[in-house]
Parts: sequence; structure tokens; C-alpha cells
Amino acid sequence: MANVAVVGSQWGDEGKGKLVDWLSERADVVVRFQGGHNAGHTLVIDGKVYKLSLLPSGIVRGGKMSVIGNGVVVDPWALLKEIETLKGQGVTVTPENFKIAENATLILPCHGELDALREDATTGVKIGTTRRGIGPAYEDKVARRAIRVSDLTDEELLKKKIATLLTHHNALRKGLDAEPIDGDQLLQQLLDIAPKILEFSDIVWRRLDEAKRERKLILFEGAQGTMLDNDHGTYPFVTSSNTVAGQAAVGSGMGPSSINYVLGITKAYTTRVGEGPFPTELFDEVGQGLGERGREFGVVTGRKRRCGWFDAVMVRQAVKTGGISGIALTKLDVLDGMDELKVCVGYKLGDEVLDYYPSNMTDQAKVEPVYETLEGWQDSTFGARSWDQLPATAVKYIRRIEELIEAPIALVSTSPEREDTILVKDPFSD
Ligand code: GDP
Ligand code: IMO
Ligand code: MG
Repeated sequence: MANVAVVGSQWGDEGKGKLVDWLSERADVVVRFQGGHNAGHTLVIDGKVYKLSLLPSGIVRGGKMSVIGNGVVVDPWALLKEIETLKGQGVTVTPENFKIAENATLILPCHGELDALREDATTGVKIGTTRRGIGPAYEDKVARRAIRVSDLTDEELLKKKIATLLTHHNALRKGLDAEPIDGDQLLQQLLDIAPKILEFSDIVWRRLDEAKRERKLILFEGAQGTMLDNDHGTYPFVTSSNTVAGQAAVGSGMGPSSINYVLGITKAYTTRVGEGPFPTELFDEVGQGLGERGREFGVVTGRKRRCGWFDAVMVRQAVKTGGISGIALTKLDVLDGMDELKVCVGYKLGDEVLDYYPSNMTDQAKVEPVYETLEGWQDSTFGARSWDQLPATAVKYIRRIEELIEAPIALVSTSPEREDTILVKDPFSD
């Protein structure tokens, strides 16, 4: 049996939460390895909706171990709020079934504030972030001044670390005309929340190693998507972490050989939230129709998602750069009833046609999609649970995508509901 990493292959919101929940039936452990509460993962089980940002999507099923790995940036206040909301929905979250890596980085109030200050500034590049402090927290981590979960056990150490942190933050804030942060107040805030977080703190790398030796099945849950990856995405319009499957090893404390299959979650069309290039974006009623039928509104910020045609060049690149073994094609039902469908098969840049997405920001904004037109289908695929329930033209669309992106289809999703999922090839038995 194989350990599976689930990652997004586009700009996020591909349906990772739904698929992680579906796959978690057979997994023992579900691990988040990057990102933070910028993620919004939706699960629908018998009509009941669960929205998760920090908690791994395996938490909703009983009897699974849910883990936040060291690669995640954790806002402790947001986490406690999410736990309360889920408990209110009848989900069990206890120190027995939920663990946080003691070496995970904390997101502090000053990170969210800095994120918002930069987004609202009239100079610099506006990214359209979720304003959750993700970027500033990762900056502090890489710059070696972050406060981590285990620091919460040691008041004296916290005092020293806060002093170092504020030397940096208060200088920045001065330049941005913001009030300085009061160190004593921050210390008190952290001491107040410490016991509530520390009850979940654990030596995660060791727990995962134990699980591995006991041959337990581990599912790695990615957030965001390859085109938001800090290296491989549409930089600078990306998030501040690596979102590709390689990060699953680093961000959980397991080696790369622990990941046996990479499942790329792929929407049957394309969406993006926030700023940045989007070659196949539609500004007409076709795009509006996709947004309405697909209910394309952000889980975290409620922002309207931009919609466009399927971009096979971009997904092929995600397959290569992220080592995707197979994909789960989601939201196929949203394409029901369309006369024709376009798929991007190349980019025109000046006189050239490219078979890859260039890395230069100017070129990324300039490329024009080269389309192939495919026949649509009128019958409904909504809620289909087997391959033979799909119209022949829908199968043709799937097969053409498979060919263009150079990766096999492992699953197809046909509604938000957990069970409306078609298994084509089992990722666990690869
Ligand atoms: P994630 O961030 O990748 O977990 O995805 P989100 O939860 O942010 O966004 C995906 C949205 O599409 C959610 O509202 C899901 O309930 C919904 N969804 C997932 N799969 C399907 C599907 O196959 N069909 C339809 N119509 N909706 C889906
Ligand atoms: P899930 O896990 C879609 C986008 C933001 C912005 C950029 C940087 O639900 O797929 P950040 O707050 O991370 O610094 O914002 O990344 N973004 C997402 N878009 N889905 C997500 O997560 C996202 N997380 C961040 O909109 O463009
Ligand atoms: Mg989402």
C-alpha cells in the first residue's frame, strides 16, 4: 500500500478537501505540511458542510490521526476558533486525535497586520493575499526570528525572542506609519494561549516515523496549488510556501521515499483568486456561467474567483514540476450543458508558440492562449458515481486532457458530496 500526497495542480481550490476526506477512509494519518489558514477546504457529507482551514481534512472522520506538520504556519487563535466551530458541528478534536509539530512556526497578530498594511500600500506589488499573515510569518521563519510552538513552554525564552522579533517588526512598522507593538502585551497574549495549544504539541517527526514502521497509511494534504508555489508558480503572485509534493517530506519531517504517489487535484476548468496572470481567463458570460454553476467564491475571504478554460499547458507543467503521478479531475459537472469547450494547448508569445509557461513576469502577462475546441455534452454528469454514467463526449474530454497533461486520471469528482466520486485507478495501490 502506498502513502499518497494530495496537492493542487492549478491556483488552489481544486477540491483537495473533498478528495482528502474521501481518501481518508482508508488512511490512518492525515498530515498538513505547508500553508496555514489561507487555505479553505470544503467537505460535504450527506448535505452537511464542513469548512477547514488549518485542521487536516481527515479530522471529520472518527478514528484518524490528524497532524499539523512543521511546515505549516499556525495562527493559534484561528486554530482554537476552528476547533470550536468543528466541535459545534459534532467533530471530535482532542489531544488524542490531533497533534501539532512542536517545531511549527506561529503566526502572530503583527503578521496579519503587516500583510494588510502591505496590501493596502500604494507602492509595491499588490498580490491580493488572504491577509492572514502567511507571507510575513514565513519571512520570519526563514530569517530565523520566528516564534515556534515549543517556545510557548519557556517564558524567559519567549521574552528574548519577542525582543528580537520586535526590533525587526517595529522598525518596519515605523516605515509604514503603524504603531509599534508592545512586547509585554504580546508576551501576555502568548502566555494566555500557550496551555491551549501545548496540549496538542507533539514530536511529529517521531510519531510519523512510528506510523511508518507500523505500516500505517499516511495521507499528506497540500494547500494552495502548484501555480501558487513560491518557486514554480506565477511569482510574485504566489503564496509564501512550496506547495508541491516535495514539501510534504520537508514539512512533515519524513524523507521523500515516504511519499509513494502524488495525486494532483485538477479542476475541469480553471479558477484563480487574487491578482496575477491568468491566460485562459474569461470575462464574458461563459466565465460568469462557470462561476455561478461552480459556486466559485473563496472559502476564506468570500472573494469571487476568476474563471476560465482548462489550461493543459499549465497543468502539464504542474505534473512535471511537482512529480504528479495521477490526477483527480474535479467539478466535471460544472461543464454540463455547454455546447463547446476550449482547452489551452500552447501559448503565443510574439511570433513563437510555447509549450510551457515562461517564468518571466512580463512574458507571463503577455502570453495568449492557443485553443483546441472540443465538443460539449448536454446530459448531466452531476452526482455520477461510475464511469459508465458519463456521456461519451465527457469521456472524450477527460481522455484528451489526460493525453495533453501527460498524466493518467485516477479519480473523477462530479459533485461536492463525498460519495459522488468515480474511482478509475486506486492511488493507494500504486
Ligand atoms: P480546496 O481548497 O482545494 O479544498 O477546494 P475548495 O473547498 O476551496 O473549493 C472547491 C469547491 O468546489 C467547494 O465548494 C467544494 O464543495 C466544491 N466541489 C468539490 N468537488 C466538486 C465537484 O466535483 N463538483 C462540484 N460541483 N463542486 C465540487
Ligand atoms: P486552498 O488550500 C486559492 C492565494 C491568494 C493570493 C496568493 C497569496 O484553499 O486551495 P497568501 O495569503 O497565501 O499570502 O496569498 O495566494 N491563495 C489561495 N488561492 N486557494 C488557496 O488555498 C489559497 N491560499 C492562498 O488569493 O492570490
Ligand atoms: Mg480552497
